[in-house]
Amino acid sequence: MSKPLLLMTRHFPPAVEARAARDYATIPNAADTAMTGAEIVSAARQAEPAGILCAAGDAMNAETIGQLPESVRIISTFSVGTDHIDLAAAAARGIAVANTPDVLSVATAEIAMLLILTAARRGGEAERMLRARAWTGWAPTQLLGVTLERKVLGILGMGRIGQELAKMARGFGMEIHYRNRRPLPDAEAQGAVYHDSDESFLAAIDVLSMHIPGGEATRRWLNAARIAQLKRGAIVVNTGRGSTVDDEALCAALESGHLRAAGLDVFDGEPRIYEGYYTAPNVVLLPHLGSATVETRDAMGFRALDNLDAVLLRGEPPPHRVG
Ligand code: DGY
Repeated sequence: MSKPLLLMTRHFPPAVEARAARDYATIPNAADTAMTGAEIVSAARQAEPAGILCAAGDAMNAETIGQLPESVRIISTFSVGTDHIDLAAAAARGIAVANTPDVLSVATAEIAMLLILTAARRGGEAERMLRARAWTGWAPTQLLGVTLERKVLGILGMGRIGQELAKMARGFGMEIHYRNRRPLPDAEAQGAVYHDSDESFLAAIDVLSMHIPGGEATRRWLNAARIAQLKRGAIVVNTGRGSTVDDEALCAALESGHLRAAGLDVFDGEPRIYEGYYTAPNVVLLPHLGSATVETRDAMGFRALDNLDAVLLRGEPPPHRVG
């Protein structure tokens, strides 16, 4: 039996590319850059693949999906987030959509913890000072941050990543509060305090870590009004999706001193970054590194291939179907 055709919109880790090539006739993206929606459509129309392996940030919107050839049966994304895929458009075309949950929870929580520590202890500013050759020596009042011990960490979105972060933060002596659609069972909450309103949640915490999905429902969730409800001197960290933050409001709160610091791994419209972040002194910026470990990216690729295998090799529903 001939191997099913698989269009790959990105260059994936070597072990993932090798497994894909073992089981599929692959149409790789050797350029290692994201394809535009038009390029995806053109490649798909030319090759007529049975499946598409795409990634976060790809333009799998209604326009792209609407022009895919009839041959496409599944879009498997190398990501847990699916805000780059128009699920309704895929459903209308009868194309299954699947993602890669769980395998990136620890890696993403590590980046959230890294940002919390770096923001609290002013690691970004300190590094920039050294690299600018501007360090004049140790001083009793130089670059004073805040310690995390006994501070309240507020986790917005207590899913798998939020729960991994809670475990790590407990090791730093932080108290955990969370805001979620519903409270977790006690065994999962591990003593974390649930809030049933944004108001009580925001007023109670010292550090806000955001783990909510992108999309219209969460667009600019962290706006000027909610920032004002945070304590003066609070820290904000986002490893979820950039669209959930009002960049102008966040920068204004950093400039005014209402917020002590922020740490961001994701940006609205990335790789474009809101201009104010380039000059704000108390913000640490990472280029969407959440899942960027060798182990995690391999595991994501294998999970994405598991989804494709189910549909294209065995005629079964994908194990991690989202649409
Ligand atoms: C995801 O999986 O959604 C991440 O943002 C990419 O690491």
